[in-house]
Amino acid sequence: MIIVYRSNTGFTKAYAEMLGKAENMKVCPLAETQGKVGPGEPVFFMGPLMAGHIAGIDQAVKKFNLKGVCGVGMSPVSPQVLDTLSKANYVPDAPIFYLQGGWAPKQVGWLKRRMVGMATKSMRESLRDRGSRRTPEEDKQLDFLLHGGSFVAFENLETIRKWMKTL
Ligand SMILES: Cc1cc2nc3c(=O)[nH]c(=O)nc-3n(C[C@H](O)[C@H](O)[C@H](O)COP(=O)(O)O)c2cc1C
Repeated sequence: MIIVYRSNTGFTKAYAEMLGKAENMKVCPLAETQGKVGPGEPVFFMGPLMAGHIAGIDQAVKKFNLKGVCGVGMSPVSPQVLDTLSKANYVPDAPIFYLQGGWAPKQVGWLKRRMVGMATKSMRESLRDRGSRRTPEEDKQLDFLLHGGSFVAFENLETIRKWMKTL
């Protein structure tokens, strides 16, 4: 199996490379798969979430023999996130995983920054409104939404690595 990924700001790339190293698998960016992914070769696809949609997934479904898919977003892991992910992304006969990546506002254009800003507005406002009553955890969350940060960690790959061993 080969890991194919798409990444705009580097978080998915970091996970793909970590996973490839740990599982001794080849890793290839989606744009460079020509001649590198054999016909029918099993693929694990990873891509960043954009408004619930895994970027590159449609191309990956059409082109590859997908064995599994992973979306990488900025939201913390939760049952709701996984549920939305499976509903918004059509992947026939392959499991969908989710990893928390990060948020890099300075690396995305103003329009995308605004889109994310609108999506996180109510959360930012309610955190701001709590003022001095914010917990240290909520302070961190607000700082993450405003300035960005990374949640990429090797331990997060545990579920995917366990699943890979069952193949
Ligand atoms: C336009 C846009 C839409 C996004 N939508 C979502 C989303 O629906 N859910 C989420 O968790 N993260 C969302 N994000 C955050 C990215 O998925 C997150 O920063 C991810 O880690 C980026 O991965 P990358 O560095 O590999 O590109 C969005 C980011 C942008 C720029």
